[in-house]
Amino acid sequence: MRLLTAAVASLALMVGAQTVSAAPVEIKFSHVVAENTPKGKMATKFKELVEERLAGKVEVKVFPNSQLFGDNKVLEAMLLGDVQMAAPALSKFQKYTKQLQIFDLPFLFKDMEAVDRFQNGPDGQKLLGSLQKKGLVGLGYLHNGMKQLSASQPLKTPADAEGKKFRIMTSDVLQAQFEAVDAVPLKKPFSEVFTLLQTRAIDGQENSWSNIYSKKFFEVQPYITESNHGLLDYMVVTSAEFWMQLDDDLRVEVKKALDEAIVYGNSIAAQKDAADKQAIIDSKRSEVIEISDAERAQWVKAMKPVWKKFEGQIGKDLIDAAVAANK
Ligand code: SIN
Repeated sequence: MRLLTAAVASLALMVGAQTVSAAPVEIKFSHVVAENTPKGKMATKFKELVEERLAGKVEVKVFPNSQLFGDNKVLEAMLLGDVQMAAPALSKFQKYTKQLQIFDLPFLFKDMEAVDRFQNGPDGQKLLGSLQKKGLVGLGYLHNGMKQLSASQPLKTPADAEGKKFRIMTSDVLQAQFEAVDAVPLKKPFSEVFTLLQTRAIDGQENSWSNIYSKKFFEVQPYITESNHGLLDYMVVTSAEFWMQLDDDLRVEVKKALDEAIVYGNSIAAQKDAADKQAIIDSKRSEVIEISDAERAQWVKAMKPVWKKFEGQIGKDLIDAAVAANK
């Protein structure tokens, strides 16, 4: 009996020791952009905050520049448990929900303040739950900025885009947007864009100033039209399976750190947008084309019919709510 008690006690000690020395929860955070971008900096800040506050309990490993997964694979990998967090562009979720297509509608938001109002309002917050049925949890929105059009030829009016090949993200709305100006859209991963532009396999692409600068697209695209025609923002996501198996107290702390990192990322996005645009101008590698109000009106007229095409999938009320955020 005494022997049995001793055995039970030593087993308990072993289990206890195992609990004490349990490996920290690992969060692999995969993204496709450079470290010196709003998303790159947000991910680094998240890692710092988690490791400062949850040392030994949670470890964050950030993989930038598509090192681990491209955006076209990362969500599948997340559902398989191979990566725990990512922040794909909102344009890359259409396989999982049609509602997020709203963020791709051309000329929907007049500026980033309007985007903020919509994302922070009831409709934007509800959209964070739109991936739930697919096993994904939307943890928050992160800004990059408005998209500009870069090309091998100057683009001032929609007629200039006719017949030209543009790389787009995996979004049917973006496809329709370029087809609306008789251009040829091609869905390609972000990691391939520089080479496609450099080899002239494509004529142009759309992106934020920070991506055009950090990925050196401006070095191989002699013209950038400041069109501000669409939004490049992100949703930070995790899998429901990973999120729910975290201990409650850890989940609360990880979410708190993420919220703070997102606030930080959003606070530097506008400043990076302006600084990277200026760096491109200063480089003299690419001419930044400003369009007149009349020219802009032509782009709006050509592209806006895309809204009607996707109204059924997105929902008219949701589009109306986004438009209302402009006021
Ligand atoms: C990103 O900013 O995460 C990538 C955007 C793109 O694919 O163009």
